[in-house]
Amino acid sequence: MVAAAIAGALQRRGLRVDALKLVATGVERGTAGEDAELLATATGHSAPDSVLATFALPRSPRAAAAAEGASIDVDGLIARVRERANDADVLVLEGAGGILVPLTSAHTIADVLRSLDADTVIVGRAGLGTINHCALTVTVARERGLRVAGVILSDSEGVDAAFAAENAAQIATQCDVAVLGVIPRVVDTHDVERLAAACAAAVDLDRLLNSGDAAPHRARVMAADRAHVWHPFTQTGEWFDEEPPVIRSGEGCWLIDENGRRYLDGVASLWANVHGHAHPVLDRALHEQVGRVAHSTFLGQTHAPGALLAEELAQVTPRGLSRVFYSEAGAAAVEVALRIALLAQQRRGHIARTRFLSLEEAYHGDTAGSVSVGRSEPFHRGLDPLLFDAVRVPAPHHAGEDESLRALEDILGEEGDTLAAFIVEPRMQGAAGMLPHSDGWLAAAVGRARSAGLVVICDEVATGFGRTGDLFACGGAGVEPDILTLGKALSGGYLPLSATVVAESLFELFTGPYAEHRTLYYGHTYSGNPLACAVARASLALFASEHTVERGRELAATLSRELAQLETLPLVHEIRRRGVMAGVELRDESGTPFAPALRMGRRVTLAARRRGLIVRPLGDVVVINPPLVMSAAEAARLAAILGESLREVGAQTGG
Ligand SMILES: Cc1ncc(COP(=O)(O)O)c(C=O)c1O
Repeated sequence: MVAAAIAGALQRRGLRVDALKLVATGVERGTAGEDAELLATATGHSAPDSVLATFALPRSPRAAAAAEGASIDVDGLIARVRERANDADVLVLEGAGGILVPLTSAHTIADVLRSLDADTVIVGRAGLGTINHCALTVTVARERGLRVAGVILSDSEGVDAAFAAENAAQIATQCDVAVLGVIPRVVDTHDVERLAAACAAAVDLDRLLNSGDAAPHRARVMAADRAHVWHPFTQTGEWFDEEPPVIRSGEGCWLIDENGRRYLDGVASLWANVHGHAHPVLDRALHEQVGRVAHSTFLGQTHAPGALLAEELAQVTPRGLSRVFYSEAGAAAVEVALRIALLAQQRRGHIARTRFLSLEEAYHGDTAGSVSVGRSEPFHRGLDPLLFDAVRVPAPHHAGEDESLRALEDILGEEGDTLAAFIVEPRMQGAAGMLPHSDGWLAAAVGRARSAGLVVICDEVATGFGRTGDLFACGGAGVEPDILTLGKALSGGYLPLSATVVAESLFELFTGPYAEHRTLYYGHTYSGNPLACAVARASLALFASEHTVERGRELAATLSRELAQLETLPLVHEIRRRGVMAGVELRDESGTPFAPALRMGRRVTLAARRRGLIVRPLGDVVVINPPLVMSAAEAARLAAILGESLREVGAQTGG
């Protein structure tokens, strides 16, 4: 009734209004059902055109469909609603029974509304019992990520107007929600004219219509951003000239901006997202934990999410790793790994071992220690007074693996007994521009370093959690480090959480009576944050239940085929891949790198963004590193958009 009343009232305003019932059950075969007829009367469409699916049994849509040996095609429903919405100023979509009514074993009405990013109006009755029903529905709707445009109360029983108003006021304050109006009782509920008139008089339709208008909100966000935000790794000069997307929500492998535009997340939100955005299992884990406690310190006390996650990490990481030290950023996980390695050497009596061995072009994060063992000309410029000296092995991809190994042996021969640890990104030097190396090189390099007495640190902040085809790259390559650093995807890409997973033999060096001063004096306020740990546990469980590593391998095979088609395009010099991590290096026709000022990588990524794909440049390498659950169709779309973007920029620059 209220859906028809809203549709009728908006049509009176001269808007092109369409109205649809999503699914109707208890509808005799060959008819469209009462609800659809009412909507049809309001809009002038036919009744069969006003309902997307009907079933005879008066049960939940899932059960009614099952009774007919059918199941509801939720994606198909969503696509049809979107189509219809394109042809109208306003589409009023009527639900069925409530937002948690099941459509399939995996989908409720709420999932459809979320996918549509619809402005959700919750309709309650006006009399007794409505406060609880409305409050529950508003709470759950928000938890499920729906945008609640407001509540409308509808008086079907003829309650006292003052009582209805009191209920409306209570719901508004209790739920901090707009109560858009109370529609008084209309005796003949088939009289759409009356319903529409009652709605027009009682409901704040202007507020309803404007609730979805993103433009003022977007402008407000951008004004605040331009005035006050300092974005990481961002050329501030260029930022002020850009119109970046203002992201409002995420769904699967897609991000949705304030204007409702959808972008394929081709870099998994900086290589972190694994199972897709707004995954119901991860959302639930977060909600459940937030209802208990958001944070309690890990200094001097413990909690279930932190302790149990540590146990689970010890089980899935390579043999010998058993102690988990939590931080928030990948860089901090590296920072503590360096300290543990240095102090461990001292405690073993190797006091001359004070330096670190790392790779040319390595990237381990942006704290002083992690930058010291990294190497990138622009990142290091001007920072020398802050950094310690590290010894660097030529990157195997650039120098050649044999040459790199020879150099490593020379270094170990000459100054090995001054080195505390060897730190390496196994299988793929990611931020260097996606530079892969073989498992053979990795095993040989780690073997040499260990024989020379160095602690071996594998930094899997980027490569961990399935990105190179195995849960951990080092494990896949048969390498067992003394310390493993994890971050990014540890929480499925949900919350800041990193971990330094350490061999028991190192941990023991930090254990002893107080007087021996073996304590590791290091830590962060939010170490082991329970929210992040709870989500990380749920993420790890999903790896098992949804076969995420295997799905990542399938995606890697698809990406390999799709990206191969780009190899002959303008600007493309080389495409490097390992698992789902890929980099497309751009150069001119003669194979010469472009002048950095031409900003070719950035141009291609902006062209891709205009077409609905988010990818990021590392200099002139366009990086692709999607969530592991990206579908084959989405991967094909990613490659197609990237191809179009390369052609566009190539044509503009004569490349
Ligand atoms: C290998 C590696 N280590 C460490 C880091 C730093 O992680 P965070 O950005 O969370 O500090 C990164 C980030 O890209 C990385 O790729």
